[in-house]
Amino acid sequence: MNILGISCYYHDAAAALLQDGQLIAASEEERFSRIKHDFGFPRQAINFCLESGGIKGQDLDYAVFYEKPFRKFDRILMSVLQTYPQSYKVFRESMITWMIDKLWVGSKVSAELGIPTDKILYCEHHMSHAASAFVCSPFEEAAVLTVDGVGEWVTGTWGVGRGNQIDIRKQMMFPHSLGLLYSAFTAFLGFEVNEGEYKVMGMAPYGQPRYTDKVWKLIRQESDGSFSLDMDYFCFQHSTERTFNQRFEQLFGEPRPPKMLFFTADSGFPAYFGEPPANFNELCKLNQHYADVAASIQQVTEEVLLSMARQLQKETGLERLCIAGGVGLNSVANHRLLSETPFQEIFIQPAAGDGGGALGAALWADNMLLGHPRRFRMDHAYWGKSYSDSEVHQFLEENSIPYRRVDDDDKLLDQAVDRLQQGNVIGWFQGRFEWGPRALGNRSIIADARNPAMKDIVNTKIKFREPYRPFAPSVLAERTEEFFQLPNAIHQYPARYMLYVVPVRSSKQSVLPAITHVDGTGRLQTVFRDSNARYHQLIERFGQATGIPAVLNTSFNLKGEPIVNTPANAYNTFVKSEMDTLVLGNFVVEKSH
Ligand SMILES: [Fe+2]
Repeated sequence: MNILGISCYYHDAAAALLQDGQLIAASEEERFSRIKHDFGFPRQAINFCLESGGIKGQDLDYAVFYEKPFRKFDRILMSVLQTYPQSYKVFRESMITWMIDKLWVGSKVSAELGIPTDKILYCEHHMSHAASAFVCSPFEEAAVLTVDGVGEWVTGTWGVGRGNQIDIRKQMMFPHSLGLLYSAFTAFLGFEVNEGEYKVMGMAPYGQPRYTDKVWKLIRQESDGSFSLDMDYFCFQHSTERTFNQRFEQLFGEPRPPKMLFFTADSGFPAYFGEPPANFNELCKLNQHYADVAASIQQVTEEVLLSMARQLQKETGLERLCIAGGVGLNSVANHRLLSETPFQEIFIQPAAGDGGGALGAALWADNMLLGHPRRFRMDHAYWGKSYSDSEVHQFLEENSIPYRRVDDDDKLLDQAVDRLQQGNVIGWFQGRFEWGPRALGNRSIIADARNPAMKDIVNTKIKFREPYRPFAPSVLAERTEEFFQLPNAIHQYPARYMLYVVPVRSSKQSVLPAITHVDGTGRLQTVFRDSNARYHQLIERFGQATGIPAVLNTSFNLKGEPIVNTPANAYNTFVKSEMDTLVLGNFVVEKSH
């Protein structure tokens, strides 16, 4: 039985293929199209999935869309009508895009895949999220929480998963949305919505939550965990350009200019920014205000989520929790859900945003609709395309790129460990690329986490990230607890996917300066031999050589670009940056300085 899940036309477009219930392939479209957060029809991701399964479109038993277009259109229509005439522009734009393609996605899928429309199914947006978390989790029974910006009408759900079914018991409805509240602050702080939420989370530890009282004017939470927004402060319900209005600005001041460099007295002025400006102190003060705003929205978001989760736990009495929806990528909040609620174990879909809806929709059809028993557990995120050594070889030869072929794996790993110890930055390209937004050791840039200068080196050479974007560590799963405060680490699934920010043990912070954030935390990835043997071996050998079984791991891309997919993408990124070494499978390319 072949089931293809599809998400598109809103945030991240993606496709995922199940064959007899097993996930065969999954990818966001951006990896192929090279357009960040590409939301168009995921033609290339679909082709990749079909090829991976050795089938053609006509062989599909079902194609499942991750939401119900008519219901979503209903919400857009209703909300613009309620706010007419302010919403005139949205109304006009929506009519054009919805009438042209969004409403008729079924016909589009049918035409593209060559399958009849009766083989096309539609799963509700939040059910897609819920299924993407629970159905492939290791839990037979669990509470399920989904929280995002908005789907059709729903912005969050509480439910229970048991066997192959999910019972959604309570819902939050548009415009009352925790995701849209966070996005309003993302925009206020000068970042792009649906892209910059991480930056708000990373900026928060530089500030103090001084403005939580003001944030609580915007959102009111009831004792049952539900909440409502005071819509007098927002305009996302009638504007596609602005999310907050002047009343919001009266509370928090002028929005932060998007191009303003971020630094505070704590961060200092990073060397890779160049010369400090004459008004350094004044700008520090201003940035401090924005960091305080970030800390305030982050804290309120955490408290709302904690309260939602505690209520769900109280009502269900369950000890396991599954999470999906874009807010599930808030890895600081996620760790608080583990440490401050009675839930003992959590599973979060690594593609918690809308891309993951493609997988959830397919799982929903296979399990809940067709009634198959659960038969797939997601233990890793390596579901993208891989390139064989002969493909890499051909690419290098055709482009006359000097390389070294190291067929002996031991030698390859030893050479990489030597380079890391010498302070080199390595582009590490292996196997299938990752599903979801995080690079987890197959399309990663890696470096020595022990080197206090490494943050600046990686930023100067490649990333040019501001201090609020900490670098993450990959650590051997079995040795995690020596370095991080994460009890029972090997059973904490979200850490496999870099979805927990946890305290670095105080005695280890000075040992791991390149990955310890200003507040003493790290967004760790636990690495397992079973799911990524080569990356595990690399870190193990680095540990044998240095005593520290962890490396700095950042995604293999340049600023603003999607993570690399092909050897050519990787090589181009290598050339454009000042990375020292590129390892493509068993081939090594070095830069002569
Ligand atoms: Fe969503």
